[in-house]
This record gives sequence, structure tokens and C-alpha cells, in this order.
Amino acid sequence: MAQSVTEWVKVTDDISIISRQSGEVWFHTSDSTKEIADPFAVPMTGVGSAGSTVGLLDGAINLGFVAIEKRLARPEPTVAAYIVALVGAYHTSVDTPRNLRRAASRFSELGRPEVAAYLEERAREETGHDRLALKDVRALGVPGERLVANYIPEGIKPLCKRFDDLCAEEYPIGSIGYSYCLERIAALKQEADIARVRTLCPEGVDATRFLRSHSSLGSEASHVAETIEFVATLPASDRTKVVQETYESSLLLAEGYNHELLKSEAELLEEIRKAIGEALPYGRGSAPSNIEEHVARPVA
Ligand SMILES: [Fe+2]
Ligand SMILES: [Fe+2]
Repeated sequence: MAQSVTEWVKVTDDISIISRQSGEVWFHTSDSTKEIADPFAVPMTGVGSAGSTVGLLDGAINLGFVAIEKRLARPEPTVAAYIVALVGAYHTSVDTPRNLRRAASRFSELGRPEVAAYLEERAREETGHDRLALKDVRALGVPGERLVANYIPEGIKPLCKRFDDLCAEEYPIGSIGYSYCLERIAALKQEADIARVRTLCPEGVDATRFLRSHSSLGSEASHVAETIEFVATLPASDRTKVVQETYESSLLLAEGYNHELLKSEAELLEEIRKAIGEALPYGRGSAPSNIEEHVARPVA
């Protein structure tokens, strides 16, 4: 009988994620007071499997979000917050195809055509997603081009920079970890979440194109599944780097999203007003009060 695969990755000085093909995942904390050497401090060298790789990737995201658990903002969702989330979605999408192609051409140079082909395919799939966010902003009666040209939400800037930097690295494998992190979180969105956002929008307005496509209903779910399958085929050193970057990206993403969620509606309205040079056609308290906090999370 083939042996079950176990994978592990050290993501901080003292925490390793351990995952089995069967789906079990542990967070292992090394104890420096013990004399026995920590077996998980040594990088893994074996093959991967989809079952164990997904445990490492999702474990890394969970660990990143634990860091802000106690400070997690739970705001009332509003149209203003949704518009800001769409602006964030625009900025995290607009350079994605170009960045992915840059990383792909680097892997071609490095003699890794399989990684280059995977990244090229992702670049094709992500093309035009910035336009979806822009259309949604416009559907809400806001001059989208002007808004995105003059405004990048503060919490989103570090994410954009991270992806730019990762794709420009000499060995840009971390770009896969970053992308997985964003897509996995987007794919958590369910039909009910989209329906709730619709109730925020004015009668007859469809401003959920980006959200639909970046949810469990759209292409995001298959992007996540394809990435897991692909990462599982990579050599152990690449899988380790991908998981480590998934963790680093989830820290940035959790902090960045929370930063935006902690803003008051008045602050958000003021940021939008400054960017477009006029007040939004939406007043305060335009949202129903019974929407769960996760709906107000940035849309991607
Ligand atoms: Fe996308
Ligand atoms: Fe995607």
C-alpha cells in the first residue's frame, strides 16, 4: 500500500504547519527548552499531495488571520464601504496579468516551463477583472475611472506592493502563495453574501459583477482547486516557499482588510469625496442593519 503523504512547513521562528494527505492539520510549536531536536524545523524534502498541500495552504491563511482575531472589526455594511472594497478589488486586479506574465517569463528563463505555463494561464484567466470592479463602481453612480485614478485605500497599498515585488523576484515562486491567499478568501463568499450586497444597492442596480466572479459561484473556486493541484506537484523547496508566502500574504491581507473595516462611514465618504471632488449620492445609514460582518469584507 502506498504510504500516506505528510508535509510540513515552518512559517515562523517557532511554528510549523503539519498536514497529512488525509486532511488532518496541526500547528506545531517548537519548544526550545526541550533537548530533543525539533523534526519539523528541518525543511521537508518529500513529494506533495493535493490533500496535504491544501492543509498547509489553508493552515497558513488561518494562522495569518489569528494575528488580528482580537482586533477584528465588525462594521455595519454600507454602500460607501462596498465602493471602497471595489476600489481595493480594482487595484489588486489591475496589474495582475502583467505581473503574472513577468513571473512566467522569469520561469521560462530558469528552464521551468511548467511553472511558466501555469502562470501564463492564470494571467489569461485574470485579464479584465479590474474592469468588472470598475463597472460595478460605475453602476453605483460613481465616476469609477476618476475614483480609482485618485484613490488607493491605505490598507490595500501594502498588498499591491507585495505582489509587484514578488513577481519581480529572481525566483518568483512566492507569487503563487500571494494569489492563492487572495483567491481562497474570495472563494469563501457564498450566494447569500452576494444577495445581501444586492440589498445594499439601489433598486434595479447590479453592482456585483466582481463579487460574483470572485466567489464560490464564479471562477475563483476553480482557480483555487487548480492552484492546489499544481502546487502539490512542485518540488518540496517550492511548496515550502509557496506556503511561507501564503502565510506572509495572509498577515498583510488580514491587517489591510481590518484597517479598512475599522474606518467609520464618515471617513470612507470623505475619502471618496476627496478622490472624485464631489459628495457621493448616498447618505449615511443607507444600509440595512442585519447584514453579517463578513459581507462587508473587501470583495477580493
Ligand atoms: Fe480575479
Ligand atoms: Fe482568480
